[in-house]
Amino acid sequence: MHGHDLAAGVAENYLAFAEEARDRSPGYEALATSVAEDTGMLRFVESLPPQKRQPNLLFAAARYLLGDPVDIGRLRDLVAQDGTELSAVMLARRTQTNEPARCATLLPVLAELPPPLALIEVGASAGLTLLVDKYSYDYAGHSVTGRDPLAPTLRCEPRGPVPLPARLPEIAWRAGLDLNPLDVTDDDDVRWLSCMVWPGEGDREQRLAAAVAAARRDPPVVRRGDLITDLPGLAAEAPAGATLVVYHSAVLAYVQPPDRQKFAAAVRGLGAVWLSNEAPGVVPDLPVPPRPEAQANQAQHGGADEDWPFVLGRDGTPLALADGHGTWLRWLPGIQG
Ligand SMILES: C[S@@+](CC[C@H](N)C(=O)[O-])C[C@H]1O[C@@H](n2cnc3c(N)ncnc32)[C@H](O)[C@@H]1O
Repeated sequence: MHGHDLAAGVAENYLAFAEEARDRSPGYEALATSVAEDTGMLRFVESLPPQKRQPNLLFAAARYLLGDPVDIGRLRDLVAQDGTELSAVMLARRTQTNEPARCATLLPVLAELPPPLALIEVGASAGLTLLVDKYSYDYAGHSVTGRDPLAPTLRCEPRGPVPLPARLPEIAWRAGLDLNPLDVTDDDDVRWLSCMVWPGEGDREQRLAAAVAAARRDPPVVRRGDLITDLPGLAAEAPAGATLVVYHSAVLAYVQPPDRQKFAAAVRGLGAVWLSNEAPGVVPDLPVPPRPEAQANQAQHGGADEDWPFVLGRDGTPLALADGHGTWLRWLPGIQG
């Protein structure tokens, strides 16, 4: 690709991100728009390997180095100074958002499985989504009290009838697997995790801090490894007599489609319960549910927050649509809890 085409591609990508950030984070919308119009910034981004050019990574790295808030002026200065510090963080780090509130999407299924459970989360990041039983939950007034009274309460709005959990699952054993585990006891890793939360995203920052504090009281085990090659070895460590559950959220989009197929075959080979919480179309052989009419209408008329829901799936069957950050859950018609 010629330099000119490359710059156009990068600028387009930043403009698309600005659009995506519009309702979520006006700060990121402004930054992304400014980068798309700034030749020096575009040149810097183009100097990075293709998988390291994402707006989310650039902005998080700048916030990691400079602290909040970062505006285009501070970002330009950082690059003008020579940019090596910024590119070093971008090359060393990955986008590894860990959103504890996604546990509220998983809990209704986990609560109904035969106890005790042995949990394996692939793509676990820092392991905050392994701590399902530590958090408390509030499903619009239906409360479940967590085993760590200091851990945050995760609020999730049930949309329509949802099989709300009556209890927390008993968890006999748990372990995460990640290409690059983050360590909740390491201050730099925790700072990076907080830079993954977009500025202006309401209570996400506080929830993350409270979840990290809970994780520090009883750090989850997250092994370094790949979700295809290292899954069988980890599963072999799970105690016999427990219901083995393999789950993942916001992970398979980062995996190439042929490898998604290999992963699906690997999970099926284990005979485990398989729970997926991913964007539509990402999980092999998991049908994409039709969008309910009301939702489609809402989306057409703007302001809908169900535009890009995740699909909660169990063993290849879609169960529910869920907000990507766990704030609402809509069970699909005809699905039993
Ligand atoms: C966006 S984070 C999601 C973290 C967590 N599941 C959650 O819902 O908050 C995606 C994680 O998947 C990990 N990941 C991506 N590809 C992987 C692979 N092939 N094997 C293991 N982990 C992988 C990344 O390192 C990252 O930590």
